[in-house]
Amino acid sequence: MTTPRWLRRTGTPRLEFGADYNPEQWPRAVWDEDMKAMKAAGVTIVSLGIFSWARLETSDGEFDFGWLDDAMDLLHANGILVDLATATASPPPWLTAAYPSILPVSPDGRVVSPGGRQHWRPTSPIFRAHALRLVRAMATRYGSHPALAAWHVSNELGCHNVYDFSDDAAAAFRVWLRARYSTLDALNAAWGTSFWSQRYGAWDEILPPRLAATHPNPTQQLDFKRFSSDALLSYLRDERALLRELTPAVPVTTNFMVMGETKGMDYASWAADVDFVANDHYVTPGPQAHDELSFSANLTGNLAGGRPWFLMEHSTSAVNWQPINVAKKPGELARDSLTHVAHGADAVCFFQWRQSAAGAEKYHSAMVPHAGPDSAVFRDVASLGDRLRSLRSVAGLSRTPSPVAILFDWTSWWAAELDSHPSSRLRYRQEALDWYSAFLDLGVRADVVPVGADLTGYAVVVAPMLHVVPSSLAERLSAYVSGGGHLITTYFSGIVDENDHVWLGGYPGALRPLLGIRIEEFAPLLDDEQVALDNGTAGTLWTDRIDVVDASTEVLVSYKTGEMAGRAAVTRRSVGPGSASYVSTRLGPDGLVPVLDSLLSRAGVVSELPAEVRGRVELAVRGPVRFYINRTDRPVELAGIAGAPAVLGPREVAVVAA
Ligand code: GAL
Repeated sequence: MTTPRWLRRTGTPRLEFGADYNPEQWPRAVWDEDMKAMKAAGVTIVSLGIFSWARLETSDGEFDFGWLDDAMDLLHANGILVDLATATASPPPWLTAAYPSILPVSPDGRVVSPGGRQHWRPTSPIFRAHALRLVRAMATRYGSHPALAAWHVSNELGCHNVYDFSDDAAAAFRVWLRARYSTLDALNAAWGTSFWSQRYGAWDEILPPRLAATHPNPTQQLDFKRFSSDALLSYLRDERALLRELTPAVPVTTNFMVMGETKGMDYASWAADVDFVANDHYVTPGPQAHDELSFSANLTGNLAGGRPWFLMEHSTSAVNWQPINVAKKPGELARDSLTHVAHGADAVCFFQWRQSAAGAEKYHSAMVPHAGPDSAVFRDVASLGDRLRSLRSVAGLSRTPSPVAILFDWTSWWAAELDSHPSSRLRYRQEALDWYSAFLDLGVRADVVPVGADLTGYAVVVAPMLHVVPSSLAERLSAYVSGGGHLITTYFSGIVDENDHVWLGGYPGALRPLLGIRIEEFAPLLDDEQVALDNGTAGTLWTDRIDVVDASTEVLVSYKTGEMAGRAAVTRRSVGPGSASYVSTRLGPDGLVPVLDSLLSRAGVVSELPAEVRGRVELAVRGPVRFYINRTDRPVELAGIAGAPAVLGPREVAVVAA
C-alpha cells in the first residue's frame, strides 16, 4: 500500500492540462511551434516518450538520449512539466528479431507478430530484463531533471496483451496456482476436476485455457483471468520498485483503462500500487455515452479512494478505432473534460498533442488537428485551458461521498460472462451502467465503488449481477442490511462462490436467506422476447421463477405476461430498519426508474436537485464545489440553484462554489 502522492512540482495547486507529446514524429522546427501553441492553449504537463523505445535504445544496449534531452530541456524552458514514460510499452524491432520468444501467443497457438504495438508477454523474463534495463537508464538519466513530475510506467498495461497463452505464461500460471492452492488436491477441488476427467496429477500438466475441444474448465478460465491481471500487476511492481530505488522522490503512476468493455485488469487490486491513480477514457457512442463517461470517472475516483486522480488520456474529438468514428459535437469536449473533473480529476490530458501525419492513429483527433491551430478544435482546447485555470481552487478537493453506492466487482464481471451459462447475453457492466443511468434520471448521486469498499454511510447499496459471492461477502452484505442498510441486487447474483461453484439449495444461493426468496430454475429470455410487468414496464434477457419463502418479503412488482405471469418480479424483504430487494429481469434504465424511485423513497433517500431539473442535470460534488452538468442537448433552466446561472446551455457545465 502506498501513501498517496501527487505530481512533483512547485507552486500553488492547479488543475493540470496537457497531452501525450510525441515530438519524435516531427522535425525539430515543429517543436518550437509546439511550445508556442502549448503556451497559447495553457498546457501545463505532457506525457513524453511513451512509444519511444526504438528511438531511445537503437540496438541492444545502445542508447541515444540526445533528442529526449533536447525535448525535456525545451519543455522545462517553457515551464511545462513532464510525466515521463519509462518507454517500455512497445518493444523495438531489434528486440523481437533477436528474441521472438517475447511475443505473445493466442489461445490457438498463433504467435502475435510485431508491427503493431504492445507485442510482449507480461511473463517473459527476457522482455522484463530488457525493459528494466531501459527503465534503469531512463531513471538514471532523467531522475533529477527539473521538468520531471512523475513516472508513467509503460502504457495502458494489458490493452492488447493481457491474455497470453505462451509457455512463459503456462510456467508463470503454475507458480501463481501453487501460491493460491499450495496442493494439487486443493486445486483439483477448486477446479472441480472430477468433471470430464480433468484431474491433475502433477503441476506441469496444467496449462492456460488454450483452444479446447469444447468449453474449457470454468474455474481454470476464471483463475487465468485473475492470474493475467496479477501478471501485469507484478510487471508494474517490478518497474515501480526500480524507479523507487533510483528516484524515491518521483511519484509513479500508470494509466488505467476504466472504460467501456475493457475488463481484463482488476484495477481494484492495482490502485494501491500507484502513487496516484491515472485513467484513460474514450467515449462509447450511443444513448448512454455521457452516462458511461460519468460512471467510469466516478469509479476511477473511488478506486483512488475519493482523492484526486489524473485523467491521462481522452480525445478532443473523434477516435480512429471504432467502426465509425464520430466527431464530438460543440460543447462535448468541455463537458467530457469537466465531468471527469467533477468526479475528482485534477488533471485533464488528451491523446495526443499534435495529430499524427503518419501511422495507424493519423485519423485520431488531437489538441492540434491536421488543420493546425487555426481550427475550431484548437480554439475549444484553448478555451478549456482557460476554464481549467479559472477552476484552480478545485485542485486537491476530494470527492464528496454520495448517499448511495453501486458495487463493482471484476470477479463477477469475469465469471458472469463465462461461456456455458444459462444465457450468453448477460452483460455485467451494462447492467451496472443501467442502474447508474437510473440514478442520474432520478437526480440522485451514486458512487460506483469496488466491491471491497467500506459500505458504512451508504443508505442504499446496489449490487447489480453480483454473481460471485464468497461467504465472507454474503456476511458483509448481511451485516450491512442488519445495520439498517438497504441492499438491492439483481438476477444472476449470489450464484457461485470464489471457485465458481454453485451455492446449493436454490438460487440466489449465498443471498437467498437475506432476500427471503428461492428460485429453482432460471428462465432466461430469447433475444426477441420481452415480458410485461404489472407496473407498466417490461423486462428482457432474464426472468426467474421466484418463490417467496420469508414472511418479511413482499412482492413489489409481478410479471403480467410470459411463463412467469402472476409471479414475483421484484421483491423486498424488510430486515429491521434495513431491507434486501431483488430485481429478477433486465429493466434497462427506463424500467429501473420507477422501481428505484420507490425503493429510494422507502430508504429515505431524496434527490439533492430541484425537481424541475432532475434527469436533465447531473450533480457531482467535491467538498464546497458543486458541478451541474447538462446531460442533454437542450438548454436547462437552473432557477432555484443558488450561485448557478439561470440557464445551463446545451452540454454546459456550471461550477458553483459554496
Ligand atoms: C490509448 C493509447 C494511446 C492511443 C489512444 C487512442 O489506448 O494509450 O496511445 O492509442 O488509445 O485512442
